[in-house]
Amino acid sequence: MDTTNSWLLSRVGARLLVACAGGAIGWWVGDGIGRPISLSFGLAIASVATLAIFDTLKGHQLLDWLRTPDVSPPRLPGIWGEVAHRVHRVIRLREERIQQERARLGQFLSAIEASPVGVLLLDAGDHITWISPAGADHFGLDPQRDLQQRVTNLIRQPAFVQYLQAGDYRDPVKCLMPRGGQGYLSIQVRVYGEGLKLLLSQDITERERADNMRRDFVANVSHEIRTPLTVLNGFIETLGSLPLTEVEQKRVIGLMAQQADRMRSLVSDLLTLAQIEGSPRPSSDKWIKVADLMGRIETDGLALSRGRHPMSFLIDAQGKSMQIAGIEGEWLSAMGNLVSNAIRYTPEGKRIDIKWTSLSEGGVEFSVIDGGIGIPAEHIPRLTERFYRVDGSRSRDTGGTGLGLSIVKHVVQRHGGDLRITSEPGKGSTFTLTVPSARVRLL
Ligand SMILES: Nc1ncnc2c1ncn2[C@@H]1O[C@H](COP(=O)(O)OP(=O)(O)OP(=O)(O)O)[C@@H](O)[C@H]1O
Ligand SMILES: [Mg+2]
Repeated sequence: MDTTNSWLLSRVGARLLVACAGGAIGWWVGDGIGRPISLSFGLAIASVATLAIFDTLKGHQLLDWLRTPDVSPPRLPGIWGEVAHRVHRVIRLREERIQQERARLGQFLSAIEASPVGVLLLDAGDHITWISPAGADHFGLDPQRDLQQRVTNLIRQPAFVQYLQAGDYRDPVKCLMPRGGQGYLSIQVRVYGEGLKLLLSQDITERERADNMRRDFVANVSHEIRTPLTVLNGFIETLGSLPLTEVEQKRVIGLMAQQADRMRSLVSDLLTLAQIEGSPRPSSDKWIKVADLMGRIETDGLALSRGRHPMSFLIDAQGKSMQIAGIEGEWLSAMGNLVSNAIRYTPEGKRIDIKWTSLSEGGVEFSVIDGGIGIPAEHIPRLTERFYRVDGSRSRDTGGTGLGLSIVKHVVQRHGGDLRITSEPGKGSTFTLTVPSARVRLL
């Protein structure tokens, strides 16, 4: 028997003892000193009744408290005090446990709410019983108002309705974002409990865009390679089947060399892009003299133009003693691309000016200004897309692959700078490349 039980028994025993003592006094008073027995019996009853009244009062006090146990328990003597204390302790422990469970549930819900995955809980009849914020956002639902609605009344995409009704939830289903959104959602259902469903949604717009870009890229590369290959094939057949004079043969071989060269430059541009994309951000501790860079750009530019354009190469006073940080080959390729474009898209005799300007906030700008054919405004935002050409036939005629400006953009972004393009059709274009101040220093 534990100490609590023995203590309780002793308290009960004490009460019985008091009652018996009351009875004994009554008996003694009645018999011992010759008073009538009915008085002693009356006294015994009176003492028992007093005890009963006291206990009833204390019991009522306890009961009153139990009806509203959120205040502290009454201070009661004896067994009632012990009962009040124990009940209070049990209630407190239970409340603490409920608080802990509530806190855990709160954390769990916050974690779901922080997740980019949308969650909807459905009952066995596909009525919505809970909506996470991401779920509400994905499907355009109201987390309060739309509860208890059948999910297919609110998400009506045929692909989703079919998926839900088919009951085969092994793979997710791809749907257009509701509310006329442009994106895509991947939706997957998991069944749990007795026919309850967990509906998970994920925004896969970016993944879809990347997939489309990859498909377009492969299609573009294949197309770009197939064209010169077809031409080459034609020439090879001509050479094999027709008796050509020496002059004709020379011309055909010259044209074949042109196509082979086009394929070579396409592959080399693709390799450059792949290499730039796959390598880490250039460090800022390799310094290149601006004057040296400009010297090489000038040599290449003059060789490419072969005197067909009046050209100027200018470095401002500060630029002459300046260095920029990064990968020399990449900077050269980006700047060289801008100069070669200017030469390619500027008619003979029109000016091309190349200059370095130091900026007041510490950076530096490299600009190529030509008086060439210019670019209509609607094409400008797309110029840096791979294979994008304003006039495909003109670009191909001049050996362009349409990859040049996407290489320039990548190089500049990797070095923390940016590329600005302004142009007016028929008047000319200005391509400006900025080098951020963190990558510029004076010698
Ligand atoms: N200075 C310019 N003046 C007019 N149009 C230009 C100029 N620079 C670029 N463009 C237009 O932008 C398009 C994209 O240029 P980009 O350098 O990316 O490709 P490309 O010159 O055709 O080929 P390559 O990959 O050999 O450079 C060109 O096809 C051309 O239509
Ligand atoms: Mg180009």
